[in-house]
Amino acid sequence: MTKRIAIIRGDGIGPEIIAQALAVLDKVAEKFGHTFNYTEAPMGGEAIDLFNDPLPKSSLDTCLNSDSVLLSAVGGPKWDNVSKELRPERGLLRLRAGLGLYANLRPARLFDELRDASPLKSSIIDNGIDFVVVRELIGGAYFGEHTTEKRDGEDYAQDIMGYSEHEIERIAHVAFQTAQKRQKKVCSVDKANVLDSSKLWRKVVTRVAENYPDVILSHMYVDNCAMQLVRSPSQFDVIVTENLFGDILSDEASMITGSIGMIPSSSLGDGTRGLYEPIHGSAPDIAGQDKANPIGMILSTAMMLRYSFDMPKEADAIELAVDKFLKEGFRTGDAMSEGKTLLGCCDTGRAICAKI
Ligand code: IPM
Ligand code: MG
Repeated sequence: MTKRIAIIRGDGIGPEIIAQALAVLDKVAEKFGHTFNYTEAPMGGEAIDLFNDPLPKSSLDTCLNSDSVLLSAVGGPKWDNVSKELRPERGLLRLRAGLGLYANLRPARLFDELRDASPLKSSIIDNGIDFVVVRELIGGAYFGEHTTEKRDGEDYAQDIMGYSEHEIERIAHVAFQTAQKRQKKVCSVDKANVLDSSKLWRKVVTRVAENYPDVILSHMYVDNCAMQLVRSPSQFDVIVTENLFGDILSDEASMITGSIGMIPSSSLGDGTRGLYEPIHGSAPDIAGQDKANPIGMILSTAMMLRYSFDMPKEADAIELAVDKFLKEGFRTGDAMSEGKTLLGCCDTGRAICAKI
């Protein structure tokens, strides 16, 4: 098969980790007889420097004309003081909206090999951690009206958090379908004891659940969920929630696995085109030093092969290579522990390629 992939090299450690991910993809292409064509689409800080726009139209067009998009991570202190519209994050939000990517899947899995890296007590993680946060990505407070004005002689700011039925319906379907391929449990997270948008969320998710009698639905308030994630994370299979809650809970979820550098994510809309990125940031403090962990980025390519290109064997090959790499005791600095062999970013990519 021939596929066009838009590449957002990103900022900080972005270019280093994406280079390793492309080496892995090239290896997969060679082994399985595919052709992957890459086109760069600058976004974030790099695009601000080049075009004075965090998402130039040419980059959005490149993404729209591709079968899928790979992104490392954007942003850094260099762009901290630019105006709101020019911030690297704006580029990311506009890209999500421009591609209609309403469903963000963020798996949280405890790698057996990395149990010691979890900050949770072993009695809490004995039953394992393996769930996925399905976060609504282009609605809610992120995309509501934002205003700052004078009221009664002082500044007043507000952000409107709103959801329509169809926005909730479509993300609920994604959650139930994801659960059908897993342990068949969905926990819908909201704040229905306070917010109208959450009351509607709960009503619509409950209605959509009728189409999936094989899946068990439960509801949880977001504050309780934040607590349950550290109290008993193995209770979760699929968590579905709105944009802002999902942003917060997915950071918490990644932390409890102790391997934030290893976790990939996918953002999908109605078609097969997706945006795939590791969940970690651009780590400007270690950029250019060959210290970054490319595994989250590499596993993001595996997710792309599986979900956008329907290439499960190819995705398995990458995931198995990563498992082997960890089993053989190789680690990057972020996951290093006693008795393991420390490798840099390039050597990690090379070793994983060799195992494919
Ligand atoms: C994320 C990030 C983004 C978000 C930022 C960079 C805008 O935190 O992908 O979780 O809030 O969605
Ligand atoms: Mg976030």
